Amino acid sequence: MTPSTQKTLPQRTSPPREVTPPAAPVLALRDVRISDLAGDREIVHGVSFELTPGKTVGIVGESGSGKTLTCRAALGILPPHFEVGAGSIEIAGTDITTLTPARWTELRGTTISAVFQDPASYLNPSIRVGAQLAEVLRVKKGLGRREARERSVELLRAVQLREPELVHGQYPHELSGGMLQRVLIAAAIAAQPRILIADEATTALDVTVQAEILDLLADLRESTGLALVVVSHDLAVVAQLCDEVLVMRHGEVVEQGPTRAVLRDPRHDYTRLLIAEHESYGLDRFRAAKEDA
Ligand SMILES: Nc1ncnc2c1ncn2[C@@H]1O[C@H](COP(=O)(O)OP(=O)(O)OP(=O)(O)O)[C@@H](O)[C@H]1O
Ligand SMILES: [Mg+2]
Repeated sequence: MTPSTQKTLPQRTSPPREVTPPAAPVLALRDVRISDLAGDREIVHGVSFELTPGKTVGIVGESGSGKTLTCRAALGILPPHFEVGAGSIEIAGTDITTLTPARWTELRGTTISAVFQDPASYLNPSIRVGAQLAEVLRVKKGLGRREARERSVELLRAVQLREPELVHGQYPHELSGGMLQRVLIAAAIAAQPRILIADEATTALDVTVQAEILDLLADLRESTGLALVVVSHDLAVVAQLCDEVLVMRHGEVVEQGPTRAVLRDPRHDYTRLLIAEHESYGLDRFRAAKEDA
C-alpha cells in the first residue's frame, strides 16, 4: 500500500488481507498456427492457452488433429518443413523466436521438458538406466560422478520405483513399460523444469499402470509446482488431471474451457461424442466427483 492511498482509506480494525497477484504464465501460446511448408498448407489453425505453475492444461482430440505438433512447437522441435507461421509462444516470458540454438539447449530440460509414448525408444538399450539418468544430471546440472549417481537414485525413488538401487543398475529391457515410463519421467524432471509436457505418455500402458503414472504426475505437480501439459486422445486421462482442456479436431480448437465446465456442459458435438465414448470407462463418476469438489 502506498502512503497516499493509506491516507484516503477509512481506518481498518483488522489488517488488510494480502492479495496474491495471479501467477505469471510459464508457458503462453497465442493463436499459434503451424504450417507444413512442403505441402504449403496450414495444419494447426490457432491454439491459445496460458499455463501457470502448478496448473495443468489438457489437449484432447482425434489422431492427426495437431496435438503433438502443438507440443513440438512449444519445445522448439518441429519436424523439418514445419514452422510456426503465425502467433506467438512464450516460455517463462521469453518469446521463443528470440532463442538461439544454444539458449534452446539450455532451456530444454531445465525449463521445459517432455515425455512421450514409447519410453523404450528414448533410452539406449545397451546402457544401464541409472547411468543414462546420471548423464542427464552431469550435462544439465553439472554434477560430478558421485553426486550424479546419488541424485539419480533419489530421482528413481521420487518417481516411486520400488527398488531404486536395483533399477539403477538394470538395462531398459529388464524393466516393464510402466517402469520405463517412470524412468523417462525421472529423466524429464532431473533438471527441475518448470513445465512438463506429457504427450500420450500413458497411452501404451495398461489401465492400472496408466492410473499410477497419472497419479505420479499429479504428485509431482503438487510437490514441485510443476506446470503440466497433458496430451491424449482419451478424454478420461485429460479429465483426471487438467484444470483447463482444449478439444482439437482437424487442427482446430473446437472447444476450450475449465475441464469441469466442458465436461458438464459440452458445447461442441465432437466433445459430446468424446464424452459419450467414455461413459463406460467411468468418466461419469469423475464428472460427479469434480462437481462435488
Ligand atoms: N513429421 C511429420 N511429417 C509429415 N507430416 C506430419 C509430421 N508430423 C505430423 N504430421 C501431420 O500433421 C498432422 C497433425 O499431426 P500430429 O502428430 O500433431 O497429430 P496428433 O493430434 O498428435 O495425432 P495422434 O493422436 O495420432 O498422436 C497430421 O495430419 C500428420 O499427418
Ligand atoms: Mg500425437
